[in-house]
Amino acid sequence: MDIALDLGTANTRLRINKNGNAIDEPSVIAYNRDNNEILSFGREAYEMLGKTSSRIHVVFPLEGGVIASSGLVEELVNIFMCEVCTSRVVMPRVVACIPGEITEVEKRAIVGAISSFGVRRVLLIESTKAAAFGTGMDIMSPHGCMIVDLGAGTVDAAVMSLGGMSVSKTIKTAGNAMDDEIIKYIRRKHNLIIGKAMATSCKEAIGCVIKPEIEETFRVKGRDSLRGLPKAVEVTSCEIMEAISDITAAIVNTATDVLEDTPPEMLGDIQTDGIMITGGLSQLKGMRELLERETGITVHRAKDPADSVVAGCFEATAFIEEAEAQRANLNPLMTVY
Ligand SMILES: Nc1ncnc2c1ncn2[C@@H]1O[C@H](COP(=O)(O)OP(=O)(O)OP(=O)(O)O)[C@@H](O)[C@H]1O
Ligand SMILES: [Mg+2]
Repeated sequence: MDIALDLGTANTRLRINKNGNAIDEPSVIAYNRDNNEILSFGREAYEMLGKTSSRIHVVFPLEGGVIASSGLVEELVNIFMCEVCTSRVVMPRVVACIPGEITEVEKRAIVGAISSFGVRRVLLIESTKAAAFGTGMDIMSPHGCMIVDLGAGTVDAAVMSLGGMSVSKTIKTAGNAMDDEIIKYIRRKHNLIIGKAMATSCKEAIGCVIKPEIEETFRVKGRDSLRGLPKAVEVTSCEIMEAISDITAAIVNTATDVLEDTPPEMLGDIQTDGIMITGGLSQLKGMRELLERETGITVHRAKDPADSVVAGCFEATAFIEEAEAQRANLNPLMTVY
């Protein structure tokens, strides 16, 4: 059995066949601080965010695509893997994605968390490669193609050719950093303290990165920072655009920095084919148009952008034997552990 695993900062997705995700849940776990008992995980734990007593801790155990709390990531991986591995007779092989610019120690931590379940083999693939694969781009040919994967913890931009990275850049300011900026902005401007889940909902509902034709509003609820009492305020899409503008600028710079370092021959290929954007945050209103305007290159958004990476990890399972047959780290597509 082969498993494709996208252990994301915000969401974990698992695939065991071509028919869509077997698991698609928030990467969240809730546990009792007193005895470390796991109380819930995934969507159910996400619903508890900010609503628990002090004894219960609800955490996202991954930050910026890497492990922040190894024990909890192991728990989360084990829970999700148990759901898809009905038979324990044959140990699965797992293809998991990793962000670009990750250290060997961080890679080993991810391999360790997955291996704790009892697997035959772990293979790691960069999320941009997986995303390219998942959107049907031919990354094995001598042809430059560019992907920008926009997630919660990282933005990964890369130009690939012949199965390898030509240029890549990763930043750790993405969807989560936007949520933090929204929280700060609403507190500063409206004296209103809101939680992370409220900020995320607001960003997903009305967030935008270019001035919208029709101004939308969203009712944010929280606590008045001056009086300490419940309060609700209508915020507009332009306010959210302003709140997240620094993060938006950092994302645009990441894409343009990669283009600036790309060899001219490959730039020609990218100008012809365009840039592909994937990841949940690629759905932010105006993101595609803004990147198009700032790079001067056509930008396409993947059909199911949040699923591109796990789809690509699944496509990569077809190359496991090939990768295993070569000596470790010689395969351009995946690293075998
Ligand atoms: N419709 C939407 N509009 C704006 N943002 C969205 C939308 N849907 C999801 N997002 C944002 O996308 C991010 C999650 O994307 P994704 O699931 O690709 O991240 P991830 O893979 O868990 O993170 P990473 O790859 O950084 O580890 C969150 O910040 C979420 O708020
Ligand atoms: Mg991701």
